[in-house]
Order: sequence, then structure tokens, then C-alpha cells
Amino acid sequence: MLSDIQEVLYDEGKLQAKVKELGEQLSRDFEGRNPLVICVLKGAFIFMSDLVKTMTIPLEIDFMAVSSYGQSTKSSGVVKIIKDLDTSVEGRDVLIVEDIIDSGLTLSYLIDVLERRNAKSVTVATLFDKPARRTVDLQADYTGFTLPDEFVVGYGLDFAEKYRNLPFIGILKPEVYEK
Ligand code: PRP
Ligand code: MN
Ligand code: MG
Repeated sequence: MLSDIQEVLYDEGKLQAKVKELGEQLSRDFEGRNPLVICVLKGAFIFMSDLVKTMTIPLEIDFMAVSSYGQSTKSSGVVKIIKDLDTSVEGRDVLIVEDIIDSGLTLSYLIDVLERRNAKSVTVATLFDKPARRTVDLQADYTGFTLPDEFVVGYGLDFAEKYRNLPFIGILKPEVYEK
């Protein structure tokens, strides 16, 4: 598995330091608001669990899984809810936690859904951003790292469901996904 990685972009120490910085900032900004922190499965599961451990305020967590469908491509902009929240967001300060924003379609759909359900506020924290690939006008409120337009895996991010368990983020060798 490690031999499939061309280059490590951020090692475990760098990721953990950034996650802690974000968690401290979020703790200050959400103090007294009991946010509902939403993990967007599957990619965000590692970031989410590390992030909430660095947060020092009362909060609640929930999980949501979405998938794009139609032409099996995300460019359709059609997103489907695979697993919905257990919690009502009505009147809540919601914090969406994502691993990465690419085209922005997943998040723009999610934000729309949560606003239509009358969340009091919807805030987005993403660990990674690939602004070069954006097709909708969308920016996270909190971003860890901006990435080049390369195929990256690890720390929750997959290629064909693999590599999510790598504790760092790295660029996948082209021969792996060109196979
Ligand atoms: C990935 C990633 C984000 C989304 C970003 O999820 O985790 O959720 O794509 O892409 P976008 O900005 O173009 O919508 P994916 O759909 O691969 O599911 P996964 O999290 O289960 O890997
Ligand atoms: Mn995802
Ligand atoms: Mg994926």
C-alpha cells in the first residue's frame, strides 16, 4: 500500500497540528452554541474524530452519507442521501465537517438541504480544499490545507475505497489509478 504513494504531502504530525489549530478556533467560535457537528461519510470520518477530540466545548455529533448518481458522475450535480441524520437540525447551529472540497457539488447540496430544514446556521469546516476543481461558487468557512490538483489519498480519502487508513495524505502514483 505504501509503495503506491508517490509523495507524502502532509505527514501525521502536520495533519494533527492543523486539526488541533482548527479545533481550538472552532471551540472559541462555537462557545455556548452547542453545535451539531455533522460528519460527511465516509471521507470525513478520521478528520471528524480527531477534530472533536480537540474541541473543548459541549457539542453533539451526527453522521450523514451522500452519493452522487445519474451518469455515475458528479458533474450532474445530483446528490442522493444514503444515510440521513438522526437529529433534527431545526434551530441548531450546524457544523459540517468534510475531508475535501473538490467541485463543491456535495457541499452545496448539503448546505441547501440543511438550510431548507431550518438550521439556525450552517458552517463548513474542511481539512482540504482543491479550488482548481470547483464548478460551483462555494468556499468553506474553515479550511486546513489547499491542495494542488493531484490525486490524493489517505486520512479518510480513498481511491476505489482504499487508502483511507493512511495516517498521512499523499499523492497516488498515476500507474495505480491508470491501471
Ligand atoms: C468525496 C469527498 C467529498 C466529495 C468532494 O466523497 O469525501 O465528500 O467527494 O467532492 P465534490 O466537492 O466534487 O462534491 P466521495 O463522494 O468520494 O465519497 P466518500 O467520502 O465516501 O469517499
Ligand atoms: Mn466524501
Ligand atoms: Mg471517495
